[in-house]
Amino acid sequence: NRVTAKELLNDAISRKYAVGAFSAHNAEMVQGILEAAREEHSPVMIQIGQRAIRNSGFGALINAIRWYGAESDVPVIIHLDHGSSYEQAIQAIQSGCTSVMFDGSHYDLSTNISITRDVVRAAHAVGIAVEGELGKIPGVEDDLSVDEKDAYYTDPEQAFYFYKETQVDSLAAAIGSAHGLYKSMPKLDISRLREISGLTQIPVVLHGGSGIPDDQIRQAVENGVAKINVDTELRSAYTQGVREALQQFGESLDVFTYARIGADRMKQIVVDKIRLFGSKGKA
Ligand code: G3H
Ligand code: 13P
Ligand code: ZN
Ligand code: NA
Repeated sequence: NRVTAKELLNDAISRKYAVGAFSAHNAEMVQGILEAAREEHSPVMIQIGQRAIRNSGFGALINAIRWYGAESDVPVIIHLDHGSSYEQAIQAIQSGCTSVMFDGSHYDLSTNISITRDVVRAAHAVGIAVEGELGKIPGVEDDLSVDEKDAYYTDPEQAFYFYKETQVDSLAAAIGSAHGLYKSMPKLDISRLREISGLTQIPVVLHGGSGIPDDQIRQAVENGVAKINVDTELRSAYTQGVREALQQFGESLDVFTYARIGADRMKQIVVDKIRLFGSKGKA
């Protein structure tokens, strides 16, 4: 299936759904995500993040996605999540990623723009779409005060400037979500999202998808979010499944049994998210 990331996110914008970008950390998670997407006839993005690269290696995960996804009748995009440098973005493309994020949000604006622009130039030369990040999407463990949180949010005018200068294909915007499971109820700034989306006219990416209440997800999709990243809820379900499997089959040395039960629990979350994001049947 040859749909590009750019075509996919533009389709999501025009048909008002969001593509789930699910973080995979091992081959069983890859299988579970692909099965869920196929069963739901949904396009899917499988993303490889910095933790997964450190633990499992880039090549291993990309090859697992290609191997298990080879016969997919649904679009499967292989995405680099929170790319940390120009070099890593290029490596990702060369290794088979069909979409990359460069996260320069921890740099000052002009450095973020200049590296992102370089990534975009190189990626576009080979037909690969780039996601940039502006504003800071915190981790729940950062324990920010309300004022601090506001200071991290993406400024809509600056988002338009960032887009003009870099030509990114999509933008990860800080609108109140955080990585990890929330300690208190998150409150997405939907009017800010609408402004960012209206000014830039590019798909907005919602990071920190785990733990956001369903009604806020639906509002986000309604107002310009076309890609939603989910990681922690998947790791949580997978771990819970492995725990239960160990209790039930603790004497078994068939290691695959544990991983498969973990993947099954995770797969159910992926199915739920696909339905919530509205991407079911959109393949
Ligand atoms: O978005 C980040 C993922 O939750 C993984 O986090 O790879 O930076 O540890 P990490
Ligand atoms: P969660 O871990 O909160 O789902 O965030 C995922 C994410 O944004 C990965 O980039
Ligand atoms: Zn993220
Ligand atoms: Na989250």
